[in-house]
Amino acid sequence: MLKLTSRAAGLVAIAGALLADCSQASSADYLPTCKAIAHAVSNASTVYYPGDSSGHYAADNEHWGVTSSAASACSVEPGSVTDVSKILQIIASTKTPFAVKGGGHATNPGFSSTRGVQIAMTRFNQVVNNAAAGTVDIGAGLLWDEVYSALDGTGQNVVGGRIQGVGVAGVTLGGGYSWKTNQYGLAVDNVVSYNLVLPNGTVAIVTSADADLWFALRGGGNNFGIVTKFELKSYPQTDVWGGAAHYSSHYADRLNAAAAKFFEKAPDKKATVLPSYSNTLTGDIVINLLIFYDGPSPPPGLFDEFLAIPNEVLSVQTQSFSSFIKSITYQPDGSRIRQTSLPVLQWTATLLQVVYNESKYWTPRLAPLENPPPSLSWQSDDMVPTYLSHGDNSAWPPSRAKPFLPGALFFSWANQSSDSAMLEAIRQSTATIRAAASAEGQDIADAWEYPNYAIEDTPLQEMYGVNVARLRAIHARVDPQNVMKLAGGFKF
Ligand SMILES: Cc1cc2nc3c(=O)[nH]c(=O)nc-3n(C[C@H](O)[C@H](O)[C@H](O)COP(=O)(O)OP(=O)(O)OC[C@H]3O[C@@H](n4cnc5c(N)ncnc54)[C@H](O)[C@@H]3O)c2cc1C
Ligand SMILES: *[C@@H]1O[C@H](CO)[C@@H](O)[C@H](O)[C@H]1NC(C)=O
Ligand SMILES: *[C@@H]1O[C@H](CO)[C@@H](O)[C@H](O)[C@H]1NC(C)=O
Ligand SMILES: *[C@@H]1O[C@H](CO)[C@@H](O)[C@H](O)[C@H]1NC(C)=O
Ligand SMILES: *[C@@H]1O[C@H](CO)[C@@H](O)[C@H](O)[C@H]1NC(C)=O
Repeated sequence: MLKLTSRAAGLVAIAGALLADCSQASSADYLPTCKAIAHAVSNASTVYYPGDSSGHYAADNEHWGVTSSAASACSVEPGSVTDVSKILQIIASTKTPFAVKGGGHATNPGFSSTRGVQIAMTRFNQVVNNAAAGTVDIGAGLLWDEVYSALDGTGQNVVGGRIQGVGVAGVTLGGGYSWKTNQYGLAVDNVVSYNLVLPNGTVAIVTSADADLWFALRGGGNNFGIVTKFELKSYPQTDVWGGAAHYSSHYADRLNAAAAKFFEKAPDKKATVLPSYSNTLTGDIVINLLIFYDGPSPPPGLFDEFLAIPNEVLSVQTQSFSSFIKSITYQPDGSRIRQTSLPVLQWTATLLQVVYNESKYWTPRLAPLENPPPSLSWQSDDMVPTYLSHGDNSAWPPSRAKPFLPGALFFSWANQSSDSAMLEAIRQSTATIRAAASAEGQDIADAWEYPNYAIEDTPLQEMYGVNVARLRAIHARVDPQNVMKLAGGFKF
């Protein structure tokens, strides 16, 4: 997962998305909505237009992957809940396509971008530690690393994203795997309340007292309104021991065996390793192992097998949680990107070998498409079998009976002309690994996919299972005008 190179450029990104998307209505068609919003909002909020020299328009439209950006008619940075409500009412009455962006890490096109009105939540950026209540209020425009920075030194922390740059809103609305999930569950299991602007503009605080919205918001994405603040449970936080180790593929067999053994033992809930297999510019495979222990030093022996394998880079150390997260960056080499979800029940040594084989198989086949070659990564997320026991009855996951593990593939590339080959390859590789998991006896036929990793055409049923009907009914009641369907994403 750890990558050291970067060549993303926001403005190029937006121009590329514009060219790719010339079939739709002109974004200029939505300018009257922009003007109406600019007229209605208070001075806490600002509307920006293409060509804006302050950089806000570009930043508001920018995403982690170019293919997730679009050239909006305007962007708006709301600075108050009342203004979010006014904006949503204008969007509803004009039926203008729009998008809501938190950290901008959605990898599916149009999930947080639009040719209409781009709402960027950046001004909702407060972190308030309610130490006495044991909760933290977190603005919906924050990135997780900003939250961890703000809490650094307080001795408290929350359950959130694992990598630099990822947004609080998308992670928390879709599920939320954390370094602390083994101990405390998913992000959705740790919400105490939501400040929500409903699709009709009504402002609400949603808690467990509101059975339907409480259920729907815990995993149901952007279908039920715009969240302006999350109140999350907090937990004591000491220094942690963690970092990354990079290994040459020469040691793949040893690493796969060590990882499978570590996962099978499901040891200390404070301990996690996250292996990923990535190609390098020279066509080799490198294995990146992220190592985390939620304490200043791990119990003796716990990670010895990994540490005994000769590494190329080793950055594991005792540090604050915030500093650990800042050390984990992932910037793909290419700017076009897609991710797929790969739910399995167990990362056995043979399955990890299949994953490694996939990386070896696709690297030489995709490298000739571009120079530098596309950037490919296979990630094997693991959790302890009890990780779903910390919450219940949420939109996602649809069942907590089987603790599926959310593996993921990330492919990125630079040239639009490679799109079809790259998309075909990532789908095929995902299917191959799933088939191998089935073939070794894993019962994954009914595995639910993780909506925050799933590719855009994943059927709702495959993510939300038995919950689809209830979520559709709640959506129909809360959003009878289908306002939230004017924004992209998985829709009920
Ligand atoms: C490098 C990388 C690392 C990742 N690490 C993790 C991880 O550790 N754990 C994990 O669980 N997932 C992880 N993911 C997946 C992640 O959960 C999704 O990409 C998620 O959508 C990112 O949220 P965001 O706010 O950054 O994205 P955005 O693209 O801004 O938003 C994602 C979705 O949420 C909606 N949304 C955003 N803000 C609001 C709001 N205020 N109200 C209503 N809807 C809103 C958007 O409309 C969009 O549909 C990672 C992804 C990447 C690319
Ligand atoms: C914004 O509006 C408020 C209330 O109308 C006013 O008190 C304040 O001075 C204004 N701030 C700026 C920066 O214009
Ligand atoms: C490696 O992967 C390729 C492509 O999926 C497949 O054809 C081949 O049989 C695999 N080899 C092994 C040893 O799994
Ligand atoms: C993208 O691919 C096309 C077709 O192969 C090629 O003509 C073009 O030069 C490539 N563009 C870049 C920037 O590499
Ligand atoms: C807005 O929607 C909520 C939730 O469905 C509902 O309770 C409320 O009455 C609606 N408000 C208006 C003004 O229609």
